[in-house]
Amino acid sequence: MCSEPLVLVISVTASMSGHTYSQPMTTMNNRAAWIEGPPAQCETTPEPALLPWRLILLGAPGVGKGTQAELLHRRLRACHLSTGDVLRAAGSRAACDQSPAMKEALAYMRRGELVPDSTVWAMVRERKSCLECSGGFILDGFPRTLAQAESFQELMNSEGLKLTAVVKYELPFSEIAARLGGRRTCEKCKAVYHVTERPPRQEGKCDRCDGKLFQREDDRPESIKVRLEAYERSTAPLIEFYRNLGLLVEVRATGTPDDIFEHTFTQLETRRVREVAQRVLVAHADRCE
Ligand code: AP5
Repeated sequence: MCSEPLVLVISVTASMSGHTYSQPMTTMNNRAAWIEGPPAQCETTPEPALLPWRLILLGAPGVGKGTQAELLHRRLRACHLSTGDVLRAAGSRAACDQSPAMKEALAYMRRGELVPDSTVWAMVRERKSCLECSGGFILDGFPRTLAQAESFQELMNSEGLKLTAVVKYELPFSEIAARLGGRRTCEKCKAVYHVTERPPRQEGKCDRCDGKLFQREDDRPESIKVRLEAYERSTAPLIEFYRNLGLLVEVRATGTPDDIFEHTFTQLETRRVREVAQRVLVAHADRCE
């Protein structure tokens, strides 16, 4: 029997420390290592975290994954890694700088179809250092098929990395269509706006970096339909995959971005507290043996 008493006092705060959705953050890691791939290096390296957050965001196109990733980044400091951003950045390069595989990938993307697994996996594996970053990561748009999820899980296991959670956002179709139709994105820093829900201070210009705002090619109605079908067919099965791994956190994506963030963060913090308490209990039991 162990005579040493164990008292656990863990407090949870869901405050965003003053950052809100309507206040775009002016400083942010430029994510060059992710967006451009090796040998590019990020301008600033996130401070190493004791327990880095390693998250995947799941949900239909337009549900608000990119918006939540930005808010989670502000609070958790982990980097926002979007495979869509990597593909769009490649698409903005001169045609002579695009590999044949990338040209093919961009054609899939324009139609709203999923890019082949082999191309996406090569792109992610090449950026492995971002997954190993001591600041953690928030993956947005990857994995999107079971094959991608399995390859990713193998990589995580082989590198001794553990996912913290997989957050799945849910929203009715009518709201998704309105969000996608009004979205505008900064061509330079990739910040996301909405013509009515989150308009920039000056029309057509990014509040953060003065970059030009554009409407994504795949936000046309015909591509939106194809994207939603691809989600139902290929990505929705991942929900069961991650539920079976005990990693799924489900969040309704209705309400303001700040409300959705609070719900997400509270659930993540609760999981983290349980995880820490579990570790302490195991360590205590080991000491008492
Ligand atoms: P990707 O870039 O990943 O796009 P997506 O998954 O289709 O998601 P979106 O970026 O469209 O939406 P979101 O959920 O991030 O919403 P957002 O926050 O912007 O992929 C694009 C394409 O690349 C794919 O179709 C595919 O071809 C290819 N691809 C990428 N990864 C791939 C992979 N792994 N495998 C294969 N192919 C791949 O919000 C939307 C709008 O709503 C914004 O205007 C925002 O301001 C607004 N908004 C957000 N939250 C709220 C709110 N609470 N209230 C009101 N408005 C809100």
